[in-house]
Amino acid sequence: MFDLHELYQEIVMDHNRHPRNFRELHGNVSSAEGFNPLCGDEVKIYIRLQDEQISDISFQGSGCAISKASASMLTDTLNGMTIKEAMETFKSFRNMLITPSENRINNELPGDLDVLSGVSQYPARVKCAVLAWHTLDSALHGKKDGVTTE
Ligand code: FES
Repeated sequence: MFDLHELYQEIVMDHNRHPRNFRELHGNVSSAEGFNPLCGDEVKIYIRLQDEQISDISFQGSGCAISKASASMLTDTLNGMTIKEAMETFKSFRNMLITPSENRINNELPGDLDVLSGVSQYPARVKCAVLAWHTLDSALHGKKDGVTTE
């Protein structure tokens, strides 16, 4: 029988094993670093902007499968979006993670992001999934302080 949960797990593991856009960006780029002090995991997001649009985005770092998969999906999904669209996607993604599935109005998110919806059942892992996204927010808005989950 078709098992959606199993399929979702496979997609997460694929992003973890073969992270998309796992590289440094050079030149005129914005970047920010995020850190989870509870586990020591860290991520760095690089963004190249052309006018108000993301023309390239990548990440580096080390982390658990969920944090790495989330960062990989982030770069995969947001490339080509405007800053406004990227922040709206961040908001929808975060809402998905903190809203119990039965209360969700709209589960539709671009790319593979829906696959991480199951994380909402594990509050401790929500921080893993949003680490890269808070780091993205920091990079887009030129915040100088590093991001932490605490
Ligand atoms: Fe460190 Fe997930 S356990 S970010």
